[in-house]
Amino acid sequence: MKQVLILNGSPNGSTGNCAKLITKIEKLLKSIVKVRVVHLDKLKTNTSLINELKKSDGVLFVTGTYWDSWGSPMQAMFEDLTEFEGTHVFLGKPCAVFVLMHSVGGKGILSRMQGVLSTLGFLIPPMTGMVLSLVSQLAKSGKNSKHKKDFWDLDDLNAILGNFILALDIKIPWQSWPVDRDNFRSVWLK
Ligand SMILES: Cc1cc2nc3c(=O)[nH]c(=O)nc-3n(C[C@H](O)[C@H](O)[C@H](O)COP(=O)(O)O)c2cc1C
Repeated sequence: MKQVLILNGSPNGSTGNCAKLITKIEKLLKSIVKVRVVHLDKLKTNTSLINELKKSDGVLFVTGTYWDSWGSPMQAMFEDLTEFEGTHVFLGKPCAVFVLMHSVGGKGILSRMQGVLSTLGFLIPPMTGMVLSLVSQLAKSGKNSKHKKDFWDLDDLNAILGNFILALDIKIPWQSWPVDRDNFRSVWLK
């Protein structure tokens, strides 16, 4: 069975809304792939995370929206794993991104995060990102509207996870550009 890692970037870890979404995703995936979940807020060392990433065939990223940004544990992870850009830890591995929010800011996060993930080396299959919001949930629960189909909701998990699973079989010898792994933290300002 292929191995899928789910990374929860919420500062509320296993007790928040992201964790609830992860439980739903796990239920949908459990008969198809082996799923591991890491709540990044509780992460003690990067070594364990790197080992989890190395073992995984694909990665799902889940975060809420916090003042227009992804969660601080997610940001800390991106900063800490910078030297693995373009390595086999990431290169060519399919990913999908799930952003939760109350009302505004999530699509910017989704697009920026997909940009970061592509730069690190991940493969972004088509239609593998969504923003799930309280406001669209409330809108959808109201009066029947011809616009309902245009809002992301939990039903979209099927297409997103379906595309992600299909992409796990893609085998291409991707190349990496040269990466400076020694000096990216050094002081350059004279
Ligand atoms: C500190 C904080 C800041 C937030 N900022 C925003 C925001 O800018 N836009 C928004 O739509 N929702 C915002 N939210 C709502 C969360 O994104 C939303 O409830 C999300 O589901 C939280 O997931 P979690 O419970 O796993 O942390 C904020 C919530 C918190 C706690």
